[in-house]
Amino acid sequence: MILIVLVLLTVSSLTFGNRHNRDKAVQVRVQSADEWLRVENVLEKYLKKQDIDIWAYPNHNGKANLLIPGDLFNVIANQFDLIGLSYDVTVDDVSRLLDDIDVQLQEWNKEHKGIVGKYPTYDEILAWFDELKTNYSGWIDTLDIGNTYDGRIHRSLKISTGGTGKWKVYIEGAMHAREWISPATVIYITDQLIQGYANGDPEIVEWMEMLDWYILPVANPDGYDYCFTDDRLWRKNRRPNNGTNCVGTDLNRNWSYQWGGVGADPDPCSNTYRGEHAESEVEVQNIVNLIMPEAEQFIYYMAYHSWGQQFFTRWDYTADEVPSDHEQLLDLAHRAVNAIVAVHDMYYEAGTAPELMYAFSGSSADWARGVAGIKYPYLEELRDNGTYSFILPPEQIVPTGEESWAGFQVVVREIVSKCSGISPPGPCLP
Ligand SMILES: *[C@@H]1O[C@H](CO)[C@@H](O)[C@H](O)[C@H]1NC(C)=O
Ligand SMILES: *[C@@H]1O[C@H](CO)[C@@H](O)[C@H](O)[C@H]1NC(C)=O
Ligand SMILES: *[C@@H]1O[C@H](CO)[C@@H](O)[C@H](O)[C@H]1NC(C)=O
Ligand SMILES: *[C@@H]1O[C@H](CO)[C@@H](O)[C@H](O)[C@H]1NC(C)=O
Ligand SMILES: [Zn+2]
Repeated sequence: MILIVLVLLTVSSLTFGNRHNRDKAVQVRVQSADEWLRVENVLEKYLKKQDIDIWAYPNHNGKANLLIPGDLFNVIANQFDLIGLSYDVTVDDVSRLLDDIDVQLQEWNKEHKGIVGKYPTYDEILAWFDELKTNYSGWIDTLDIGNTYDGRIHRSLKISTGGTGKWKVYIEGAMHAREWISPATVIYITDQLIQGYANGDPEIVEWMEMLDWYILPVANPDGYDYCFTDDRLWRKNRRPNNGTNCVGTDLNRNWSYQWGGVGADPDPCSNTYRGEHAESEVEVQNIVNLIMPEAEQFIYYMAYHSWGQQFFTRWDYTADEVPSDHEQLLDLAHRAVNAIVAVHDMYYEAGTAPELMYAFSGSSADWARGVAGIKYPYLEELRDNGTYSFILPPEQIVPTGEESWAGFQVVVREIVSKCSGISPPGPCLP
């Protein structure tokens, strides 16, 4: 009897952690590009088999984060010692953390009503869409932009108070499946917009009258669902790759602007696999098809990712070039970050990804400017700074939403001040 109870306990407590038995999250400190090359040499054969997952490439402080299976840790730690690399174990047992947070989530979901402040499943998000449509039928609708590889509906929310010739805003979450704080933040922001308009907040009423909103909390529904059913730390989409057992393309490496450059792996087993060619993935194509026909009406493209606490201006793909309006976009990013920091005194930075983190090519935000020509293309890396990484505890969902909403508002206010009274394609005031 005791045995049976023990077995049951073990099984039920392994729902989230089972794929990551005793994995360790490790932060390494590299002093130079050469040192990182030596790290990659150590990791190469494990990366090919998807045994090790690079959570974050070296940032401007030389810190990179890895997920290493428990049974490989000693071997790899020895090799790190041999090349003189310093590292810290940031999470000693990832499976235990996943299971602890899972227990917290179950409690949290029991104690809290509604969808805001939670990590909802894709189906729960679609059910919320339906409720919103019913409750606010005059101005909230859903828009199906296609199907996913596995045949799910790829659904966005469309908020429009009517009228034509309006500027459009696009908000994107969960392009990377495991970044759960991203859709949760998109939901928080959407709720603020809706409540603000429904309650007659004068500023939000003005925004709603001037702008149409396309909100896609889950850009990668197959991957996102897979996190709930199979592997909480899944990143890519779920399309099998020909000639390998490895599944999935990194959807944020598959966009057509500067596709296939640095930070986008040609190896299908890599977690940053760029795909066979630009826009090979149906989820990316769906978003391209949503935006491109009316690209010149889109004024703001906001992509939420995690983690890192950064607000990125273009470009992601190179440190050698910036758009001609870089100073203006960077200044706005700094103002957004000041507003974000002011809410909970959480540290965020503004700048380009190559400056603050690392370069990566084929991103949606680069595409938004480089191909679609959208004036305000930003990517925010939400909480945290590596303490919990992708496994952010539920009590941080609302605070992350609150601070991100503050940054989001700064950008919308700028758009309103520059574009009010000017119809697309503009130009708006300089
Ligand atoms: C929709 O309206 C019902 C009835 O008033 C309410 O219970 C529900 O919370 C509302 N849902 C949303 C998402 O606004
Ligand atoms: C992958 O394999 C399928 C089935 O054999 C084939 O239809 C498809 O064209 C292949 N794709 C590529 C990019 O080779
Ligand atoms: C990704 O982008 C590349 C280059 O544009 C494209 O050839 C490929 O089919 C796309 N899809 C995937 C899954 O990489
Ligand atoms: C991350 O932030 C927490 C709380 O703000 C802080 O205590 C911790 O030192 C930071 N860790 C890193 C690696 O920056
Ligand atoms: Zn991401």
